[in-house]
Amino acid sequence: MQNIVISIQGRRPLTGDVTVAGAKNAALPDLAAVCLSGEAIEFSNVPQVEDIKVMFAALREIGALGEMRGDLIRVAIPEIRSDEVSQGIVRTTRASILLLGPMLARHGRAKVTLPGGCAIGERKIDFHLQGLQRMGAEIRSEREFLEARCRRLRGIEYSFPARTVTGTENLLMAAVLAEGTTVLHNCALEPEVEDLVVLLRDMGADIAGASDGTWIIRGRTALHGARHRVIPDRIEAGTYLMAGCLAGNEIHVQGVVPEHLGSLLDVLGAMGAAVSVFPQALHVRGGAALAAADLVTAPFPGFPTDLQAQATALLTQAEGVSRVRETIFNDRFHHVRELRRLGADIVVKGDTAVVRGRSPLRGATLRTTDLRASAALVLGALAAEGETVIENSYQLFRGYENLPEKLQKLGADITIRRE
Ligand code: EPU
Repeated sequence: MQNIVISIQGRRPLTGDVTVAGAKNAALPDLAAVCLSGEAIEFSNVPQVEDIKVMFAALREIGALGEMRGDLIRVAIPEIRSDEVSQGIVRTTRASILLLGPMLARHGRAKVTLPGGCAIGERKIDFHLQGLQRMGAEIRSEREFLEARCRRLRGIEYSFPARTVTGTENLLMAAVLAEGTTVLHNCALEPEVEDLVVLLRDMGADIAGASDGTWIIRGRTALHGARHRVIPDRIEAGTYLMAGCLAGNEIHVQGVVPEHLGSLLDVLGAMGAAVSVFPQALHVRGGAALAAADLVTAPFPGFPTDLQAQATALLTQAEGVSRVRETIFNDRFHHVRELRRLGADIVVKGDTAVVRGRSPLRGATLRTTDLRASAALVLGALAAEGETVIENSYQLFRGYENLPEKLQKLGADITIRRE
């Protein structure tokens, strides 16, 4: 894999507008939903990031016709021509597992690679499989493959033992073409799941619910084409907002749904950050003295685990002791070791990182292991004196569209080198 190295000269004031792209974690299941119909789906506001390119390549492998042009994708799968989503294509993303439900629902067969994604701890899929098996699928696992087949899936009542984002998405996509009614309890309420439901309804699916986490899906025999605009990326928005708190004169983060970021805004408010909320934008003025704050990651509307690493970086610049508790993934503190190389005072005890601020940060050479950890290191580098070099930055491009360019436009001194 190509090594991308990012160099940042820190402490340059950031000013201006940054517009967020569409949400990667909405666009991935949205693209998987293309499998459910033979007709074309036209997407806009699709983020131009590596994970989406991987998903598009996976769709092509199974028979998709279509093209990506900027943030637009027009794609149809008139016929599913291959059961198999090959390992090479999907090793690094969750694309493969998201294809399991929709391929079974329309085609009755699927062979997918056991999913990859970030190195952030155990990422189980037992609830996906349990749900699909109850719907009538036979699933065999063989080293890194899962092979599944079924006649027409049938509706079930299923309560997720714990909230899972892609698990909810997978079973929703399976249920829309199943025979009879499916009732799913304890579903994930993330905006990305809502975005998928909007698309599925526009494709003709009958889905009712679910502000309390229960969706009722009456299966149809076929779905049709649709047009869909992907929601803005709340994680990207939150990342730029925190960059503004660390290094901003004044940053305007445009194209945001502020309600998707309530828990982050609460934490930033408690820290004393100068954030103003507008209908589709968030403005932040840097330079405010930040106070320590505690946070606990939790399913939506709780604090997103995908912003935990970036918030940890921010808290190194807040006065006092902050506690960051990670409850979603069991190994998501890889950024801590690297932030310490910059001079941060952080100790991990079990599921909690204790951050003592405010630490003066100094540039260093860092190595990153996962997407959001990479973003945290970029934030640390923006606040550090001197040059920080971040190796293995390929990860960043899996989920952040044009991050170096967007930061450069705000005034950051950032260069990238591909080796
Ligand atoms: N879990 C189970 N059994 C299951 C499914 C999940 O025990 O069948 C556990 C997992 O092991 C984990 C927790 O439940 O501890 C939550 O996992 P979830 O299934 O919700 O995560 P995911 O669907 O694999 C998505 C995002 C992640 C994001 C999480 C949590 C996509 C493509 N990925 O993953 O995004 O962190 O939800 O919000 O939607 C990222 O973008 O950087 C990223 C990692």
